[in-house]
Amino acid sequence: MKRIRSIVRGVGSYLPKRRVTNHDLEKLVETSHDWIVQRTGIEARHIADDHETTSVLGIKAAEAALSDAGLTPDDIDLIVCATSTPDYTFPSTATMIQSGLGMTHGAAFDLQAVCTGFVYAVATADKFLASGSHKRALVIGAETFSRILDWNDRTTCVLFGDGAGAIVLEAQEGEGTSADRGVLTSQLRSDGRHREKLYVDGGPGSTKTTGVLKMEGKEVFRFAVGSVIDVVQDAFTATGTTAEDLTWFVPHQANKRIITASADKLGIAQEKVVITVDRHGNTSAASIPLALDVACKDGRIKRGDLVMLEAIGGGFTWGSALIRW
Ligand code: ACO
Repeated sequence: MKRIRSIVRGVGSYLPKRRVTNHDLEKLVETSHDWIVQRTGIEARHIADDHETTSVLGIKAAEAALSDAGLTPDDIDLIVCATSTPDYTFPSTATMIQSGLGMTHGAAFDLQAVCTGFVYAVATADKFLASGSHKRALVIGAETFSRILDWNDRTTCVLFGDGAGAIVLEAQEGEGTSADRGVLTSQLRSDGRHREKLYVDGGPGSTKTTGVLKMEGKEVFRFAVGSVIDVVQDAFTATGTTAEDLTWFVPHQANKRIITASADKLGIAQEKVVITVDRHGNTSAASIPLALDVACKDGRIKRGDLVMLEAIGGGFTWGSALIRW
């Protein structure tokens, strides 16, 4: 049966100019390049300067995605921005991006699912387009996690980076089969009982401060590998596809060991896995669109490819989205 699909028309990203290596961090906290690489695979990350707020990064990523799509802001009628590090409590970062793009039409809103934010945003925008209410969406993941880190805590500050990525989704009619281009399925989950394993210890409604990130690394690691398997397998089942059919696996970039272990458990060949955590660190909601942009620009991801996105983040939240490019 024919149905509306959300086709990827363009992708773009933006990284702050300042690149911080593990050796730079050795001067800040008691750590070593070798420890960070062995435990996480991270070698460097980009850190925003004071003037580079989340919306500033998001505007640049959105402009790059629009240019890649050959579209202008006039062609867009929906902006969904996934972020846990908004410029302000309100207005939303999405409306600041909308204004930065010179848009005064359409709808724009933020969505918060921490590192799963981009997968949640793709799923949300897809449902808007599939309903027929909107035609073209900018889906953005933008973060400045450097602002919510305790730079004296070596167990967290070495893991994260700043950046933004965006895709343009466009409504087009498909045949309703897994051969269609576009978002084929999305699988979203959450379980709020795990709040204290990964959280920020402040907020407007509790401490009236921004707070800093706290994490039980081992617990997060254990949960991450297990949960990813479920949502990816559910995406295969929902579309009648298998790990063999996948062209690319683009997971949230938190830790190389989590990514490699998940791919192994899922029977996905390592050469199909896109890894950018080595150069970006964990950029939370921005990590998947940043990785997508790298793999599109270097010619790996091409039209017709079957691409699995997957993430897990604070809450816990987790999810997957299967897209035929
Ligand atoms: N440099 C040097 N030593 C360190 C550092 C550091 N940066 N951080 C911790 N250590 C020390 C610890 O103090 C500990 O020392 P001890 O044995 O003397 O007590 C030792 O290294 C081992 O610490 P562990 O915490 O046991 O190390 P582990 O192997 O678990 O690795 C890590 C820690 C990398 C955080 C790992 O648990 C992990 O990757 N967890 C998942 C985290 C994650 O991906 N979070 C994000 C997902 S969700 C989201 O993206 C928001």
